[in-house]
Amino acid sequence: MKLAPSLLSADFGKLRAEAREVEPLAEYFHIDVMDGHFVPNLTIGPPVVNSLRRGLTKPFDIHLMIDYPMQYASQFGVNADDIITFHIESKDEPFRVIEEIRRLGCRVGISLRPITPITAVFPYLDFVDLVLVMSVEPGFGGQAFMPEAVERIGSLKEKIGSRKVMISVDGGINDKNIRLVVDAGAELIVAGSAIFNHPDRIAAMRALSNAAQ
Ligand code: DX5
Ligand code: ZN
Repeated sequence: MKLAPSLLSADFGKLRAEAREVEPLAEYFHIDVMDGHFVPNLTIGPPVVNSLRRGLTKPFDIHLMIDYPMQYASQFGVNADDIITFHIESKDEPFRVIEEIRRLGCRVGISLRPITPITAVFPYLDFVDLVLVMSVEPGFGGQAFMPEAVERIGSLKEKIGSRKVMISVDGGINDKNIRLVVDAGAELIVAGSAIFNHPDRIAAMRALSNAAQ
């Protein structure tokens, strides 16, 4: 189990300091990019993400909740171990987006809304490194976990079989449900409010790790 703290729940006025605080126990920094169209919220884009890089060593897990990933993916400066995840429901053709993200030299993730059948990502499993299962409607931190995600992760895990595709889960994860998603097959666990709404972020991350075992 790997933790990816979602910076969406951090204080945007001191993002780098917030990131540094969680870095010791973070496998990735999960960064939510929203365009106000794909989801009814706006967050940060390439300039902020790229300047956040300085002084941080853990890779970035960039979650694009935007209509046009083809237009913006290349604006993120990425390293080989970063992940760029786009949504299957975006307006660009998924195989083209996968190819574009590969061209940038990082890992490729595909994500889907809770309402999209899990089978929708099956045709892409031979071509991506990660599937991000949303366990809330994308757009905002602090929402309640949708328990249907557990079964979806299980079906996905079964379909992935021996492929080297990592399952990630995002939305409403806390120390009460983390065990369920890990047991179902999720490996990279995104958590925003469960970490950043806690006064001691490292203690919150430890509690999540302990609850997962
Ligand atoms: C929601 C974002 C999530 C969000 C998770 O659209 O994709 O990454 O930050 O926050 P919590 O863990 O609070 O649900
Ligand atoms: Zn996210």
